Amino acid sequence: MLLKEIKEIYHKELGTIYPKEEIDSFFYSCIEHYLQLQRFILAIQPGITLTKEEEQPLFEALSELKLEKPLQYILGTAHFMDLELQVNKNVLIPRPETEELVQWILLDAERNRNVISTSLNDRSLHILDIGTGSGCIAIALAKHLPNAKVFALDVSEGALDMAQKNAASNRVDITFLHEDILNTELEFNFDVIVSNPPYVRELEKKGVQKNVKDFEPGTALFVPDNDPLLFYRAIIDFAEMHLSKKGKLYFEINQYLGEETKALFHTRNFSEIELRKDMFGNNRMLKANAPSRGH
Ligand SMILES: C[S@@+](CC[C@H](N)C(=O)[O-])C[C@H]1O[C@@H](n2cnc3c(N)ncnc32)[C@H](O)[C@@H]1O
Repeated sequence: MLLKEIKEIYHKELGTIYPKEEIDSFFYSCIEHYLQLQRFILAIQPGITLTKEEEQPLFEALSELKLEKPLQYILGTAHFMDLELQVNKNVLIPRPETEELVQWILLDAERNRNVISTSLNDRSLHILDIGTGSGCIAIALAKHLPNAKVFALDVSEGALDMAQKNAASNRVDITFLHEDILNTELEFNFDVIVSNPPYVRELEKKGVQKNVKDFEPGTALFVPDNDPLLFYRAIIDFAEMHLSKKGKLYFEINQYLGEETKALFHTRNFSEIELRKDMFGNNRMLKANAPSRGH
């Protein structure tokens, strides 16, 4: 069959679900991934024909796209900053908002590198990523701060397995820990603790897109309506004990609970608590400095 005919079939079959530009993007990503064909191939070779064998993965991907399965899970890969990561049903697909959180940490580390006698330069940084999922945050930090010692934990063994593979393929050394942050006896101290924990309330579920709800892991996303900040409280408790002096805590947060999440710090001795918006103008990130009585 002609490649351009397959493109037409993609548009015909997916046109009621996705916008035209997104269908083009799916199609070109699939031909790149399965056939190593550049996206401009149809412009220079409009008559290019595929064998039955070559067509097969494109039609299989189309069937899954019709079920609204995210393309990243179909292809098994996702991009995060300059990294290529493997993803499967055990891990959340990394989001651009989370890239902004990592950029914030990197910028702070860069600033601190220029300050003499601070504990926050990458020669001595000990970093912990709580709820690492695909490993995206931990791996990006390890890549950009090559002298830091990076730890990453998750309650999900399936997620840790994927994160370990991603660390290996991106050639970074990370210590992975199978831990439940709601019930941990981890004893190390850290200069940076970062987390993008589950934060979507059950009541927000109806606003969540089908491709997220049906395919991404519920344990990575949802929290009970009656205690939506449980992970933030647990992590703040943990950070109070385990952040080094001058250490910093960074969170990705629920955009609707920015002030409430910030307020969790009010009765604690954390300082310089800063709430930031993401590129879409939503409250999305929080940073706080270690309590003055930190270790
Ligand atoms: C929102 S996802 C974030 C994944 C990844 N860090 C990212 O930014 O794409 C939250 C992660 O927290 C993990 N998680 C959920 N409950 C946990 C718990 N009690 N202790 C540790 N990790 C937990 C989930 O398995 C999931 O990987």
